[in-house]
Amino acid sequence: MAKKLYFGSNLKMYKNTAATVSYLQDLEEKTKDIPKITRFIIPSFTTLERASAAVDHQNIMIGAQNMCYADEGQFTGEISPLMLKELGIDLVMIGHSERRHVFGEKDAEENRKVLAALSHGFTALLCIGETADEKNYGISTEILRQQLKIGLFGVRPEDTDRLWIAYEPVWSIGVNGTPASADYAEEMHFEIKKCLAELFGERAERIPVLYGGSVNPGNAEELIVQKDIDGLFVGRAAWDAAKFDALIRQALKAYASGAE
Ligand code: PGA
Repeated sequence: MAKKLYFGSNLKMYKNTAATVSYLQDLEEKTKDIPKITRFIIPSFTTLERASAAVDHQNIMIGAQNMCYADEGQFTGEISPLMLKELGIDLVMIGHSERRHVFGEKDAEENRKVLAALSHGFTALLCIGETADEKNYGISTEILRQQLKIGLFGVRPEDTDRLWIAYEPVWSIGVNGTPASADYAEEMHFEIKKCLAELFGERAERIPVLYGGSVNPGNAEELIVQKDIDGLFVGRAAWDAAKFDALIRQALKAYASGAE
């Protein structure tokens, strides 16, 4: 059966409001003829109101890069689910590698955020991934299982329709990252799906698992054709709308020819 495919980008702390809006409009215009894929962009907080208004969310879903687990309270510097709701955004990314490794977020905290995002009606995109050391010790699967079992603790099976996972090995992300080989990524995606099936049974089949970490025009094709990779979560290679459009089309072409 053909997979439903997902393509999205986290803009990290790069584009200001004007740049985000023009990027989104450009991307929407360029990619709107591509049928049957889910597109999403996750810009900076300060751009979200304008970003959300700039596109048709049927074409491009808009996400936040982080969220506080509480609705309100003494949480200086945090952004509440209610505030995000007000902006009309669709999804919340939780536990991106930079949140975990630069800002010290832990699995239990990601879990509270996942539960809060789901209970407020957002799609929750939980990011997981092992470090280079963990990979070298041969414990990648254990780490991913732990991140999933804690991060998704208490998620109600009926809410899994709004749950997405991104596998982003820490060592593969950013300018100093080494992209994962398609074989290795597939092996980890298989393990992730196995764990999701243990947690949610048949419902797990509908949870998309996206690959992220140095996705580029040179590896997008071999990644997207892997059986357990449902989409590409792209950083740097997506921040120019024309280049992202070209990457999506190239990946879809490879997928279509493999699927025949
Ligand atoms: P990258 O970023 O594609 O620039 O490596 C990926 C990510 O952090 O999601």
